[in-house]
Amino acid sequence: MKTRSLLLATVLLSGPALAANPPPLTTDTGSAVGTNQNSKTAGAHGGVLLEDFHLIEKLARFDRERIPERVVHARGTGAYGVFESYGNLSHLTRASIFASKGKKTPMFVRFSTVIHPAGSPEAMRDPRGFALKFYTDEGNWDLVGNHLPIFFIRDAIKFPDMVHSLKPSPYSNKQDPNRFFDFFSHLPESTHMLTQVYSDLGVPANYRQMDGHGVHAFKFVNAKGEYRYVKFKWASQQGVKNLTAEEAARTTGEDHQHATTDLYASIGAGKFPAWEMSVQVLDPKDLDAFTFNPLDPTKVWPEDKVPSIKVGRFVLNKMPDNFFEETEQAAFSPGVQPPGIEPSEDRLLQGRLFSYADTQRYRVGVNYQSLPINRARTSVSNNNQAGGMNSGNTKSTVNYEPSITRETQDAAPYLLSRAPLTGTTQQQPIEKTDNFTQAGAFYTALDPAARDRLVKNLAADLNQVRDARVKARMVGHFYVAHTEYGTKLAHAVGVKVDDARAAVATLASR
Ligand code: HEM
Repeated sequence: MKTRSLLLATVLLSGPALAANPPPLTTDTGSAVGTNQNSKTAGAHGGVLLEDFHLIEKLARFDRERIPERVVHARGTGAYGVFESYGNLSHLTRASIFASKGKKTPMFVRFSTVIHPAGSPEAMRDPRGFALKFYTDEGNWDLVGNHLPIFFIRDAIKFPDMVHSLKPSPYSNKQDPNRFFDFFSHLPESTHMLTQVYSDLGVPANYRQMDGHGVHAFKFVNAKGEYRYVKFKWASQQGVKNLTAEEAARTTGEDHQHATTDLYASIGAGKFPAWEMSVQVLDPKDLDAFTFNPLDPTKVWPEDKVPSIKVGRFVLNKMPDNFFEETEQAAFSPGVQPPGIEPSEDRLLQGRLFSYADTQRYRVGVNYQSLPINRARTSVSNNNQAGGMNSGNTKSTVNYEPSITRETQDAAPYLLSRAPLTGTTQQQPIEKTDNFTQAGAFYTALDPAARDRLVKNLAADLNQVRDARVKARMVGHFYVAHTEYGTKLAHAVGVKVDDARAAVATLASR
């Protein structure tokens, strides 16, 4: 052990050992480069010659080193790991990852912040992305979750508006609470998520000491085609640790990429972080048994009514060899699901099913699923072909189906599950919005000091809002959630409680 740390110290201080006889630097096409130090010029005093192909290629290649950053979740870091199933869940799902006790599945995980750009500080108040990619033996499964159990909105049609309001202003390029509170003051369903984001949970101390949640309901489908609704949670085995606003400011000053530093250091030192996964399982016949809609992602499912079952554990044990190739080009999508796991009818999730693969064809390129980081570890056999950066197409003349050659065929046991439908097509809000009860319950569960920090954090941003109507509406939402919460906030931001109540009078019912 001592020798290992000595070795590590030597490498850190002096860099890697020098190769005795290094190979020549080459062009992209494999030819040795005579000099990488001086451009080819017309004599000692003349201009640089266009014929210096190595120089021109080097500059042109450099000019194209960036791809667009993710439109959200741009700042992040990833690691490889392995998931181990605790048992056989075949009565619930045919997903092979849960087929037997001790079954291991390799995975890649990417952590992120949401709103700020690729190089931004990692101690911002923001949900943390926690995306899991399992390379299962029946195809990939992407569980693209966050560290909080709920979300701001419930319909994908509001996502671009929400992100526009949270991103920097198109005028000043600065994030501005005037803009995002203007937006949220019209969306009472955001009260629960805003309460969690402005609580201590809003700034996790690092990526290891936070939980993860799938947020939406998904479907587990067994081999008989029977389905149940499920919610996923993975609990940090390192415990949960958060930063106060003051600690976050100090951390940003000391190391603005502290969470990435922490992950590389922990895994590099052999301290492999682990999470235990559990699922809550809901029978479709119980969908109407709550005061809220269980397919609404602004809600948690109460543990006393839908208890969690522990289903497995994962450990992260290796950092990528190359950040761009692996972490940056990693593409997670809620639509990537193996047999046995399907989307629910959650309206937010339904929009996500389209958005991710769409942005990835633009961000990475149409053949992004063939890159080693994204490629399934099972054989992929279809007639999708060609397109930019393509490799590995069929060698056969049959690139269509059906064909008399039957090179591929339908696999009837893998038909998607069937679900009953009623009603007419419509563009209406969900029934049972119940926007405030769970926000109030979250507040009630906080100790007095945590309640005060929540109010202080919220007030720091709300006090920047100039429009009194927006301020009053926001305070009104928190007031409807919990009287003490709204009253304390009203005092902290100089809003009269009566004005806050009046601003949301139409929302008064919980
Ligand atoms: C990333 C859209 C809601 C978690 C992204 C990306 C898009 C997007 C376009 C960039 C993907 C890429 O470039 O590879 C949406 C839409 C949503 C939504 C349209 C709602 C309708 C959510 C929710 C969660 C979530 C509810 C958590 C449960 C993530 C994560 C990433 C991400 C973790 C980063 C994935 C990675 O590390 O590469 N989202 N999102 N998003 N989203 Fe969402």
